[in-house]
Amino acid sequence: MPDWLITGCSQLLTLRGNVPRRSRALGELGIVRDGALLIHDDRIEAIGTRRQIESSRKSRRAEKLDLAGRVVLPGFVDSHTHLIFPMSRAHEYEQRISGATYEEIAKKGGGIHSSVHNLRRTSSKELKLSAIVALHQFAAYGTTTIEAKSGYGLDWKSESKILNIIYELHQEQPIDIAATFLGAHTVPVEYKGRADAYVTLLSKKWIPNVAMAGLAEFCDVFCDRGSFTVPQARKILTAGRACGLVPRLHAEQLAHTGAARLAIEMHAASADHLEKLDEADVRALALSNVVCTLLPGCCFHLGLSHYAPARRLIEAGAIVGLATDFNPGTSPTVSMPMILSLACTQMRMTPAEAIAAATINPAYSLRQQDRIGSLEVGKYADLAAFDVADYREIPYYFGVNLCSLTMKRGNVIYSNN
Ligand code: NIG
Ligand code: FE
Repeated sequence: MPDWLITGCSQLLTLRGNVPRRSRALGELGIVRDGALLIHDDRIEAIGTRRQIESSRKSRRAEKLDLAGRVVLPGFVDSHTHLIFPMSRAHEYEQRISGATYEEIAKKGGGIHSSVHNLRRTSSKELKLSAIVALHQFAAYGTTTIEAKSGYGLDWKSESKILNIIYELHQEQPIDIAATFLGAHTVPVEYKGRADAYVTLLSKKWIPNVAMAGLAEFCDVFCDRGSFTVPQARKILTAGRACGLVPRLHAEQLAHTGAARLAIEMHAASADHLEKLDEADVRALALSNVVCTLLPGCCFHLGLSHYAPARRLIEAGAIVGLATDFNPGTSPTVSMPMILSLACTQMRMTPAEAIAAATINPAYSLRQQDRIGSLEVGKYADLAAFDVADYREIPYYFGVNLCSLTMKRGNVIYSNN
């Protein structure tokens, strides 16, 4: 692979600095004007102003890529997706518009259960093909690393089918995928009224099997009204941790349950959603290393006005992240730029805070902060170039895709020309 010299970055957002980012530091992007990078193999060899970088002997010999004044930032790290699902649930979208709530639809056998019903009948080949389409779209919107959860199988055969697809995709296509076991997405119909028996099955059998086979790095639980209780989630995450699976948690989305406190107690990598946090939770999270991963695509898609308290979390000193929550029920989008727009207008995050929350902090939540999330010497050449003159225009222009080039480990994986 030749070395690459990238120039013409009107603003090069390096995101260099302390990891994770809290409070005021969340808005520090480490911007280099008229920036340049030298890439050797899959890594950044040098980064700085064009004048600093282009004069070296290595730079003179490298292949040249002039980005003609575009804004360049680290590839987005989308730390919460449900990548593998069988089909859309557009009919539920229409039902909700006509007045039904997400929980009412779920109680009648729709929601997660309907995706589970269909996934069990869909072949690995078909599931994989639709995930590949989605992964191309992730790349087209500037994302270079994602996390992907199981959770639409809920029997051993189907959960392992999903995790095996994630494993194969991670090996075969350029976007890195960190796998999370979410067998505790909801209680499957076969265990209706016997949730504790399902929790025991997860803890005693499936989690050890997943860990032994190396099929996941993380373990997640949908700990909320209608799914799993705090004691059940504690049991599942404890079993996961005993096998080396790092806890994550769907917390405080539909009701205030104490799940955020459980995330702190379990030293979870991340607590996600958090729409129903109270002030004491905010203060406790601020004192912890749990990343508060906010998913504003859900409120937007469900038509709800109560977004997570991003400003209070940032001001208290919590580690705030952003992710798409790509899934067919509550957030069918792969677009991190759209998530940035929502974070800015609906949660009052500044464009700079939103960008740090979509790059370096989620890299920390995936335990990959040493190799991704910022553009620094020695890190992977994972970057996205946007067809704008100022980084604030990335969330400002919404509903259009201004990403013009995405590079993963030094390879161009998307280009709009
Ligand atoms: O993150 N909350 C749980 N899981 C998904 C939604 C799943 C679904 O409705 O299919 C979420 O919002
Ligand atoms: Fe989710």
